Amino acid sequence: MKILVTGAAGFIGSQVAGQLARRGDHVIGIDNLNDYYSVQLKRDRIAHLKRHNGNAFEFLEIDFADNAALVAALAEHDFDAICHLGAQAGVRYSIENPHSYVQSNLVGHLNMLEVARDRKIPMTYASSSSVYGGNTQLPFRVEDRVDRPLALYAATKKADELMSEAYANLYRIPLTGLRFFTVYGPWGRPDMAMWLFTKAIFAGKPIKVFNNGDMRRDFTYIDDIVAGIVACLDHPPLDDGGPHAGGSINPHRIYNIGNNRSEQLMDLIGLIETACGKEAIKEMHPLQPGDVKDTFADISAISTDLGFEPKTTIAQGVPRFVSWYRDYHGV
Ligand SMILES: NC(=O)c1ccc[n+]([C@@H]2O[C@H](COP(=O)([O-])OP(=O)(O)OC[C@H]3O[C@@H](n4cnc5c(N)ncnc54)[C@H](O)[C@@H]3O)[C@@H](O)[C@H]2O)c1
Repeated sequence: MKILVTGAAGFIGSQVAGQLARRGDHVIGIDNLNDYYSVQLKRDRIAHLKRHNGNAFEFLEIDFADNAALVAALAEHDFDAICHLGAQAGVRYSIENPHSYVQSNLVGHLNMLEVARDRKIPMTYASSSSVYGGNTQLPFRVEDRVDRPLALYAATKKADELMSEAYANLYRIPLTGLRFFTVYGPWGRPDMAMWLFTKAIFAGKPIKVFNNGDMRRDFTYIDDIVAGIVACLDHPPLDDGGPHAGGSINPHRIYNIGNNRSEQLMDLIGLIETACGKEAIKEMHPLQPGDVKDTFADISAISTDLGFEPKTTIAQGVPRFVSWYRDYHGV
């Protein structure tokens, strides 16, 4: 298959692109290499992909929020499916720079839906566990109400799901929305807690522990996420009247992809300290505005439909991340 992967220089996109290329697919990766975090890291991911996959991976630097540029750049390329993982990520940054979320996550998502509509091809796209907002009933189920976002980022991801539902209804395009739960692992994201903690511990600097450590997260190892995304790409939803996961009677489904375990933040910190061989200096802080206290994924829908089964515990995954981090930074 030929697959278009957006956000190919990003954490999850680069890992999905690598897995698809390794198994014999041809991948066209697009990304605008924006500077939300280290552009060098994004370039290093692309260089790594090119080094290991040769001609099976090609990269185009495009802003998918710029529709004219997107259409022009893709005009000469054929592909059979879209894996739309590019977005303005991060909950807290949406307080600082709301417009970048509207551009990438709303305008950009519409542009990608239009590409799928124009070519009549399926699309798998990234939503987020943050759509569950302050829901207190755990684990979070795809059938739960999710109309109380705590931050603009979550609102844009919910809007992506709604736009997708309308497109599946009007144009019968097979669409899959994936609500990811705190993804981590090698080539991860420098704005996320695991990276920030590891960096501070090696530098002998304090780490910020929010809500005084009383937080729980469903941490999902990157290889498990990649396996789930590839399974969705391989099995787009049928136009059979449903209902599909999440309740749609159109060819549109929504899955949680998590580890199905909710871990205490302090346990995570303990594992990072062990892997780094150094204790963290902990600075306690209140919960940050827009942040969610606990997450926990009910993954029964994707497990039943596609046999998804997360394999990596944080006790296995955290040392792998720290080992990659040391290698990458030479620490
Ligand atoms: N990592 C997680 O824990 C997590 C959790 C929930 C949801 N998600 C979602 O999963 C997807 C991938 O996340 P990630 O962790 O890999 O983030 P990431 O920031 O590493 O990757 C996103 C990539 O998209 C690119 N991008 C952003 N706007 C663009 C635009 N307008 N045009 C072209 N490229 C653009 C960025 O340059 C970046 O390389 C995102 O949609 C994110 O919202 C991630």
